[in-house]
Amino acid sequence: MSRAPITVTNLTGGYNGTAVIHNCNMQIAAGEIVVIMGGSGSGKSTFLRHLIGLKPPMEGDVQLFGESLYSVDEIARLRLLKGIGVAFQSGALLSSLTVAENVALPLIEHSELDRETIGVIVRMKLDFVGLLGKEDLLPSELSGGMLKRVAVARAIALDPRLTFMDEPSAGLDPVVAAALDELIIKLRDTLGMSVAVVTHELESAFKIADRIVVLDRGHIIFSGSVAEIKASSNQRIQNLINRIAEDEEFDPETHLRRLVGEA
Ligand SMILES: Nc1ncnc2c1ncn2[C@@H]1O[C@H](COP(=O)(O)OP(=O)(O)O)[C@@H](O)[C@H]1O
Ligand SMILES: [Mg+2]
Repeated sequence: MSRAPITVTNLTGGYNGTAVIHNCNMQIAAGEIVVIMGGSGSGKSTFLRHLIGLKPPMEGDVQLFGESLYSVDEIARLRLLKGIGVAFQSGALLSSLTVAENVALPLIEHSELDRETIGVIVRMKLDFVGLLGKEDLLPSELSGGMLKRVAVARAIALDPRLTFMDEPSAGLDPVVAAALDELIIKLRDTLGMSVAVVTHELESAFKIADRIVVLDRGHIIFSGSVAEIKASSNQRIQNLINRIAEDEEFDPETHLRRLVGEA
């Protein structure tokens, strides 16, 4: 039995009996950042839902820390899920709660800690993501980048060994997105955390990934380092990289340079 933070074995999954994820195998080691890439509709979000306990697979197995997520009983499953953090766009912050209250939620729900201790932990987490002093603000008073940081602070409230993020830098300007990349690297380097990140931002993937996994129409068609994916001669991977690159945000400066023939 593997003790890796997560081991995915022959996973097939989807909706209403129709598979959109086909026989996928993946493992994430301790302290490893794995970036899951793929075009729109390739199955990235569905894959993640199977990995974080939201969707039982049609076939195959997901093990967290060596235990099968979908074959243990409900109590054991909840205990396993407490060991992972999730910072999803869909897992939005509660708009009526302050920053501190949002980060405190998992601690109130899943720990027996007293209010004072929870307050200390919340401030530690906000400090970690660079938001100390913003405790009493409401989500509506925060920028896009700050909202993402609060979501990360909440995801790591219970000190997970493995954290999942779906498109963390979507909709952020490049400078803010780059700062979020640094935060993901800091999770690995200072906490030894494993992180699974879904993104279609190629530049971000190349910067943070220890390993890149490419999904294409529900199949894992590549798993390897940044150097390996750049060197891959597989035409489908190169096409995908080019297609993803074209999806990247419009940059007026690059556009201008192209127009005048400098790029
Ligand atoms: N709730 C759903 N019900 C049925 N089909 C879905 C649902 N969500 C996604 N799909 C389908 O599953 C496939 C993969 O979607 P998704 O996992 O969202 O891809 P990605 O995150 O890579 O864009 C797509 O064909 C999509 O239409
Ligand atoms: Mg998605």
